[in-house]
Amino acid sequence: MSHPARPTDPTSRQDFWEGVHDTKDVDAVSWWQSVPELSLSLVEQAKVETDDPIIDVGAGWSTLVDHLVARQYRDLTAVDLSTTALGTVRSRLGPAGEHVIFQMADVLDLRPNRRYTLWHDRAVYHFLIEPDERADYFASLERCLHPGGRVIVATFGPDGPTTCSGLPIVRYTHRELAAEFPSYELIATSGEDHVTPWGSTQQFTAVLLRRPD
Ligand SMILES: C[S@@+](CC[C@H](N)C(=O)[O-])C[C@H]1O[C@@H](n2cnc3c(N)ncnc32)[C@H](O)[C@@H]1O
Repeated sequence: MSHPARPTDPTSRQDFWEGVHDTKDVDAVSWWQSVPELSLSLVEQAKVETDDPIIDVGAGWSTLVDHLVARQYRDLTAVDLSTTALGTVRSRLGPAGEHVIFQMADVLDLRPNRRYTLWHDRAVYHFLIEPDERADYFASLERCLHPGGRVIVATFGPDGPTTCSGLPIVRYTHRELAAEFPSYELIATSGEDHVTPWGSTQQFTAVLLRRPD
């Protein structure tokens, strides 16, 4: 099934996501949450040190970095295609954001000059409906992550919505999501019924994985 409005190249992806953030308020996107409880719990279970490098891909307006800064994590990178989203978070953090690197980049083509101990993704992977997109994502992950590094990925679950921001998505069970990362060890599964700003619920599936040494 083709989706005419679906952005499939880096430029149209950036235009699309810049447009989303330019035309909405921070707390008017379905994925908004003031406290990312699920992510914070999984970060805790990942057992990374506060000076370990952590990357949040497709960070958007998420408050995850705010909460990690408050918990003394001091090597944080927030990646997104939207400069508007990154700029908002930079302003929101103010001086507290001195430990956060904001990077405009496409998660399908990350070329880092360093490696990370923890990769976090909430609600980006499920947009990758084509196998070659998922292969590009995995290649970025492998370039970014230390051997032994941990991965948190959260997507819509099997009873979640079939679209996000008007785009088709793939819904995953825990087993299906873990299977997307072959050879990675499944450490924990989790999930939540996320309540959108307008009171509907969206089922999320999340996994915590470990890259082999
Ligand atoms: C559904 S939002 C989730 C935002 C955030 N992770 C959260 O949980 O609040 C998806 C985010 O991923 C970003 N995004 C989508 N595709 C991307 C890509 N290929 N590379 C980098 N960022 C991307 C969007 O700009 C948007 O901020």
